[in-house]
Amino acid sequence: MDCLILVLNNLLSVLLGLIVLALFWKNRGKESSRSRLPPGPTPVPILGNIFQVDLKQPYKSYLEFSEQYGSVFTVWLGPKPVIVLAGYQTLKEALVNQGEEFGGRALYPVLLQVTNGYGLLASNGARWKDLRRFSLMTLKNFGMGRRTIEERVHEEAGFLVKAFSDHGDSAFNPHNLLCNAVSNVICSIVFGKRFEYDDQQFKFLQQGIDGYFHFLSSSRGQFFNVFPRLTWFLPGPHHEVFGHLEKVKAYFEQEAKDRLSNLDINSPQDYIEAFLVRMLEQENKPGSEFHFDNLVNSIWNLFSAGTETTSSTLRHGLLLMMKYPHIQERIQKEIDEVVGSSRSPSAQDRPNMPYTDAVIHEIQRSMDLSPTSVPHKMMRDTEFKGYFLPEGTMVLTLLSSVLSDPKHWKNPDAFDPENFLDENGRFKKNDAFLAFGLGKRVCLGEGLARVELFLFFSSLLQRFSFRATQPPEELDVSPTCSSFGRLPRTYSCYARLRE
Ligand code: HEM
Repeated sequence: MDCLILVLNNLLSVLLGLIVLALFWKNRGKESSRSRLPPGPTPVPILGNIFQVDLKQPYKSYLEFSEQYGSVFTVWLGPKPVIVLAGYQTLKEALVNQGEEFGGRALYPVLLQVTNGYGLLASNGARWKDLRRFSLMTLKNFGMGRRTIEERVHEEAGFLVKAFSDHGDSAFNPHNLLCNAVSNVICSIVFGKRFEYDDQQFKFLQQGIDGYFHFLSSSRGQFFNVFPRLTWFLPGPHHEVFGHLEKVKAYFEQEAKDRLSNLDINSPQDYIEAFLVRMLEQENKPGSEFHFDNLVNSIWNLFSAGTETTSSTLRHGLLLMMKYPHIQERIQKEIDEVVGSSRSPSAQDRPNMPYTDAVIHEIQRSMDLSPTSVPHKMMRDTEFKGYFLPEGTMVLTLLSSVLSDPKHWKNPDAFDPENFLDENGRFKKNDAFLAFGLGKRVCLGEGLARVELFLFFSSLLQRFSFRATQPPEELDVSPTCSSFGRLPRTYSCYARLRE
């Protein structure tokens, strides 16, 4: 018996020894790959660099780090390393030349909590490829239902103009109306119908999106992203926000299930119906990505990625028009000459309206809505500029560093439409205009957003002149910073009908 215990003891010691050795080798591997990570500020254990990063406006800290450490550097957000890429050349080398390696999506905890990894924005690999290809095709300007996307935006612009004119001579905050109009375009694409602006279901949807971005933009949201498990068990607004979103997603699912019973597979009218047709076609295909979880979360992606972005840009644009009345007048002159007043602007007018086009681009450039874009992750171990970037590492693309780079813009620090005009007043394209990102993960809604920005903006300026409640020189047009993005300050305006 004693002999058996001795043998077992020895075996246990050998086993423990092997485990310790394995852990040592594993960590040694980690240490050696860590030592080949790009340089960056020195982290402290567990908390990393969070005391050196301004959690309210992290992109500012990253811009400063890039001056010290170069165009590729590492910051530790809590216990995890994050690679930050700065400058046009570096972004292009990573996102275009090595697009497969840098094309993953990092599931930061708020996103993971809401989507569970389903849907096109949060997914990777075959799931992302299938959903992205399908969504791009469905969002194309033609080919679905009876009406083009431009017609849908056109129709909504008419409702928006009417809602603005209802305010008559009174000052009002345009925030909700712009969100409603932009969101309704997505409703029209996804559900095949628009909502009245005072519809209760529509308001419920808007509140879900608002609450999500509010949380994402707060320091609490950033903290959740760094220490999700700890924050989850604390009281706070996240419980209400996530609870609301569950109900919003349940509504999407019910809408989809209702359609299934009387679906005409030969004539899908909207995104949901097109998805259901594909789902039925692939019913017997093992591992098909066309199922309810991906449908519901892709719908959520279209709403969340498409509403706040485009409506904030329009809101910022109107604020800038009030700050610079001479720019507003010059756009109106161009609209009067090219479109006149008897019809609404259409997408075909755009090439003939270089000044308006330049102003819209400059609104986006100077606003720098999404300074660090949506996080990416490395899809495999990769050598990049002499560093080793391990598979799975989060990557932030510092769009801000390109949109404000004096190497690429005549006047980077001001609001100046000349940044997009040549010496003859023609619109001048600039590759450094990266407001929508770059490479395989470039914004899926870029085409739609461009149509919306042009039609909503020019339709509003065709009908109204905008004036602030205080003199232009007192207007603060610098966006407020949040961790999610740079958003315009709250304001009220007068929209005077033009003669
Ligand atoms: C002014 C408006 C907009 C701006 C500035 C903007 C910007 C961006 C940016 C910077 C990204 C991340 C790119 C990357 O990961 O590298 C993105 C992704 C995305 N955007 Fe937009 N966006 C806008 C409007 C829209 C609209 C209207 C929609 C919806 C139809 C939309 C849907 C998406 C989706 C689904 C993704 C994820 C794509 C993927 O992961 O493959 N966006 N957008």
